Amino acid sequence: MTAVRWIVALVILLTGASGGLGRLIAAGLATRSVPFIAATRDPSRLPDPLPGSVSQRTLDLDDPRTMAAAFDGVTTAILVSAGFAEPDTVIARHRAGLDAAARAGVRHVVYTSLSSAGDHLAYALPHRWTERYLAAGPLSWTVLRNGLYAELVAPDVARAAETGILAAPFGDGALAAVARADLADVAVQVAVDADADPREHSGRTYELVGTRPISGGDLAAAAGPDVKYRPTTLAALRADLTDAGLPPFAVAYVTSTYATVAAGFLADSHRGTGGDLASLLRTPPRDPIAVIRDSMVTT
Ligand SMILES: NC(=O)c1ccc[n+]([C@@H]2O[C@H](COP(=O)([O-])OP(=O)(O)OC[C@H]3O[C@@H](n4cnc5c(N)ncnc54)[C@H](OP(=O)(O)O)[C@@H]3O)[C@@H](O)[C@H]2O)c1
Repeated sequence: MTAVRWIVALVILLTGASGGLGRLIAAGLATRSVPFIAATRDPSRLPDPLPGSVSQRTLDLDDPRTMAAAFDGVTTAILVSAGFAEPDTVIARHRAGLDAAARAGVRHVVYTSLSSAGDHLAYALPHRWTERYLAAGPLSWTVLRNGLYAELVAPDVARAAETGILAAPFGDGALAAVARADLADVAVQVAVDADADPREHSGRTYELVGTRPISGGDLAAAAGPDVKYRPTTLAALRADLTDAGLPPFAVAYVTSTYATVAAGFLADSHRGTGGDLASLLRTPPRDPIAVIRDSMVTT
């Protein structure tokens, strides 16, 4: 009998390609010689023109009409966690995306989750739900448990550079903040490896945090030599955010970030390795203070 050899055309799909993390992953994938599709709710927000090996699709995880076409022919999907919204909204998006990926015959999903140290954060729930759904489902998967971005604290530092005071409710806590670009580089590497051979990272959960904890005092020093750190209260922050008109879930999300840093849960740098960060990156992890300073320029 003649042996039949099936050749699977390998195609990586990236969801959320126009977001802060998605753009960096897209830029990294575009440098690899792999066919890849940048999927986003609004393709007009993607770079124009896209590099040669990149195509685009519309994917809105709130819109079932976009799902089948988006995942058609895809072998590996990078599911970027879908936004800043109520937990039930994010869970519904992730369920819809994973169900559609399974129906389309996607082999492997790389999901951008949240570090284990972030279990107390108000936005941890959709991440842990998604991890559990992946573990119970039919797809091969890799979970990237991302730490908090260094870029998140850049607005605090920029304000401190203007006022001379870094006023924030970090207490005596510290944050093992990680460069978003490092997390993107890991996502690219894992997806490219997994697309070539899903067994490479299948069923693996990687912890990806910063390589050193950064305190309120460190952030003040990053803002300028004479800048002082003044710890403020969570109650004051919550009142300010509410007065600024943030929706209640967003007030809870932001407040829980500071509360969790202050309570000391987000300082662990895994003895300076950043968990699995250093071993999965091809280059040394970026210095989070330098990342904060750079993003102050662009904030
Ligand atoms: N680790 C951290 O410090 C940290 C901080 C903030 C957020 N996050 C989480 O990590 C994700 C990526 O971070 P980021 O900095 O790139 O956030 P971002 O710049 O705010 O981008 C939001 C992301 O959510 C996606 N999204 C929102 N609604 C969607 C929908 N209905 N269907 C499909 N995608 C949807 C967007 O995709 P489109 O291209 O379609 O717009 C975009 O990729 C966030 O969505 C959030 O879950 C992590």
